[in-house]
Amino acid sequence: MTTNKKLITMLFAGMMALSANAQELKVLSDTHAMLRIPANYKYLLMPVEESHENDYIRVSLDNKLVKEFNCKLAINKTDYTVPLDLGRIRKNEKGSENAAGEIVLDITIHRSANNGNRGGQLSIKDFACWNGMKVSNTFDTTNREKYRPVYHHTPTWGWMNDPNGMFYKDGVWHLYFQHNPYGSQWENMTWGHSTSTDLINWKFEDDVIERDAFGTIFSGSSVVDHHNTAGFGKGAIVTYYTSAGQAQTQSMAYSTDNGNTFTKYPANPVLTSEIPDFRDPNIIWHEKSQKWVMVLAEKSHINIYSSKDLKNWTFESRFGEEYGSHDGVWECPDIFEINGKWFILLNINPGGPFGGSATQYFVGDFDGHKFTCEDDKTETKWLDYGKDHYATVSFNNAPDGRIVVLPWMSNWQYANEVPTMQYRSANGIARDLGTFNYKGETYLSVKPSPEVMKAFSPKATGRLTDACRVDVQLRGNSTITLTNDKGEQVVIAYDNKKEELSMDRTKSGITDFSAEFPVVTKSPTYGKIKTLQIFIDKSSIEIFDAEGKMGMTNIVFPTEAYNKVVVKGGKAKIYPLK
Ligand code: FRU
Repeated sequence: MTTNKKLITMLFAGMMALSANAQELKVLSDTHAMLRIPANYKYLLMPVEESHENDYIRVSLDNKLVKEFNCKLAINKTDYTVPLDLGRIRKNEKGSENAAGEIVLDITIHRSANNGNRGGQLSIKDFACWNGMKVSNTFDTTNREKYRPVYHHTPTWGWMNDPNGMFYKDGVWHLYFQHNPYGSQWENMTWGHSTSTDLINWKFEDDVIERDAFGTIFSGSSVVDHHNTAGFGKGAIVTYYTSAGQAQTQSMAYSTDNGNTFTKYPANPVLTSEIPDFRDPNIIWHEKSQKWVMVLAEKSHINIYSSKDLKNWTFESRFGEEYGSHDGVWECPDIFEINGKWFILLNINPGGPFGGSATQYFVGDFDGHKFTCEDDKTETKWLDYGKDHYATVSFNNAPDGRIVVLPWMSNWQYANEVPTMQYRSANGIARDLGTFNYKGETYLSVKPSPEVMKAFSPKATGRLTDACRVDVQLRGNSTITLTNDKGEQVVIAYDNKKEELSMDRTKSGITDFSAEFPVVTKSPTYGKIKTLQIFIDKSSIEIFDAEGKMGMTNIVFPTEAYNKVVVKGGKAKIYPLK
């Protein structure tokens, strides 16, 4: 075919299949193949089969290695398709999405007993993936999941865990997140980017920080550098993340276009350690000492550093050996001040109150050098008493000095197995933190952010739907049962004497994907409580005391939506989304 004719055919097709018989595929051994990608397309669409193990793919442009990632290419059947963004590769390397250049995939096939036919005799050229592998200028992200929430953030496709580098600027909330663009299970950590003006409707922007020579991109934080302390410009976004390669080290990137694109700092990595678990840097501006402060999790304590310019860091102190839960690895710390007290948020996995992942916090004082904890060493304070509230950290630069946090709504015990495919995991709703006192001690209060409350109609309706808020006025002991026509149910119970709230999801629908999933979670209510706010969104239930004394975040997978609420010992009102 002449070049012109080929181009015309491609334009008409809009999408072109690459098959095993096509000259593009070269099988070199039973574990090795190469695939030449036709020019001028934005995406290569790659079929994935989740039950297999990862193949290793190296992408070259004009002989230069430009990308490497793991992907479970389909052998027998396709579960879903993921896009390799060829346009972005050309743009990164040559400055334009449409630049000419030869793109070749070098694929190492994983063959093992676990890989079904790969362990057997099936030849690479008979793998199912080749028939489904296509070049295209579009990638269809239309929702195909009945469990995808409607007012919570989810990745458009692929896996998500921790929220990262969140900040607010010029009316826009920026949320970065641990993204796997090449599958719906944890792998290939990359920072995806979504934005919102109301904390309810989110728009996926792009994958913005990608793996490099120092490793994949683990969790971290961003600050708005209002006074240009780092020298990248007034109002530049300065971001720290963990480079996860041979070791875990801390790297910097900055953005001068409000977080849409990032430039990596040439002198990375900035901070290193001999301890293997060394990650999740979180930075704030400390007004009193006029310095930046970074908290960083190292194994099972926190390191505190300070800096004038966001580039050179001085070790100040460490915190945590004697406090809180140590039944797992410490991850994703955060530090902030509310009402004259200082708080450290600290996520731990495993070691949570119901197994697996959870968020604990510490109360005390911080002078810019050292955190002095005032908690009783035998008590662990949890920010949320559900089983799906993890990696919770705050937005930098939130308006009016608010501390607004977002959790990842899953648990490492089963996050990779929950029954969705096109995407996996959502964030919880945004919450504003405050303080309250109980028996002489200070605690963090948790309330749904005002932006979230605004999303609901002020007028109650009688109908329970799969995306609504249920407010319950409690009259002493109460039981609230959400059920569907199949008899699946969630039972929420308040024990007025014990001052305890529980949620039972053992009969909530699909629970058998993990033995750790069917549980009853229980929360202290720190005194009597009067009003519950229950947020339901397809596959999640988040329960708050209206005064902020408890939060309980749990996911559920009913085979049909719960359509009935039965309340004993109280009265429910249902508020639909506006
Ligand atoms: C927490 C965590 C972080 C790490 C990231 C990797 O969920 O393990 O410590 O940076 O996830 O994806």
